[in-house]
Amino acid sequence: MKTPIPEKVSQATLTFKVEEIEPLLSKYPMDLPKFEPRAIKIGSGETLVIRELKKEEVPAYLKYLMKVMEVDHDFYDIVGVRVYAELLGWYRNRLKDPYQFVGLIDGQLVGLGNGRLVNEDLAISLHSMAYKRGGKIGAIMYYVKTMYVFDVVGVDELHSTFESYNGWKRYGLGFAQPQYPWPDYQHELGGATISYITKDYWNRVVKKYLSDYIGLPQDGIRKATKEEIAKNQTMILPEKATV
Ligand SMILES: CC(C)(COP(=O)(O)OP(=O)(O)OC[C@H]1O[C@@H](n2cnc3c(N)ncnc32)[C@H](O)[C@@H]1OP(=O)(O)O)[C@@H](O)C(=O)NCCC(=O)NCCS
Repeated sequence: MKTPIPEKVSQATLTFKVEEIEPLLSKYPMDLPKFEPRAIKIGSGETLVIRELKKEEVPAYLKYLMKVMEVDHDFYDIVGVRVYAELLGWYRNRLKDPYQFVGLIDGQLVGLGNGRLVNEDLAISLHSMAYKRGGKIGAIMYYVKTMYVFDVVGVDELHSTFESYNGWKRYGLGFAQPQYPWPDYQHELGGATISYITKDYWNRVVKKYLSDYIGLPQDGIRKATKEEIAKNQTMILPEKATV
């Protein structure tokens, strides 16, 4: 677009370094508190360690997600594609203030839980994924990422939506999550209905429901030991998507 200029100028052309354009496109990040890795023994007797995904791990993770996208059941394809975009969005600085947690067993990637912050008060739940079925790993990832936004970041509200029947059954119906009226309110994942959890609802309902379902002790999910953290420092990606 061009408009006649209202004043004489000494330079008719201004040039910019792309570094000067980048802050306009990506804005400045929030100061998100660190997440201390957690650990839990799952039904199989294995120890699941949940820690933050490292940015340098994203390229290899994306390659694995290409395989997940080809799974044509239980909505792994659509969730796989969206998680691919979210991780690449983080890697390329095109997703505002995401938090990304991975679940690992002896370093092997078995789960993901992620979301992003709109501001200090509101978080958007993006996705939970289990890459190994039957261990309630997805539910544990959901618990941990929800605990992070309410108990560590301190938001007042979390907005979710559901692509899959399994997700809806456990985290929508299971928590009896209230919803905002649709189509007036739409979730950023495909314009679907927004289900929401307030801090009060998290503390009084959701924490207990998920703890009972997962089989957590009263004091919640424990911090991982130094040995557990060290053992899961390097992420090993599954050869195939066997879900
Ligand atoms: C939804 C999801 C995160 C749940 O993960 P999870 O808690 O580890 O649970 P599983 O997927 O192993 O099993 C879910 C349920 O189906 C049963 N199930 C289905 N397929 C199964 C399989 N192949 N092996 C074992 N159990 C299976 C489980 O017993 C469980 O039943 P329950 O809810 O009565 O306990 C996971 O199914 C997933 O990643 N789905 C694809 C992505 C997705 O839909 N994400 C959520 C978006 S809303």
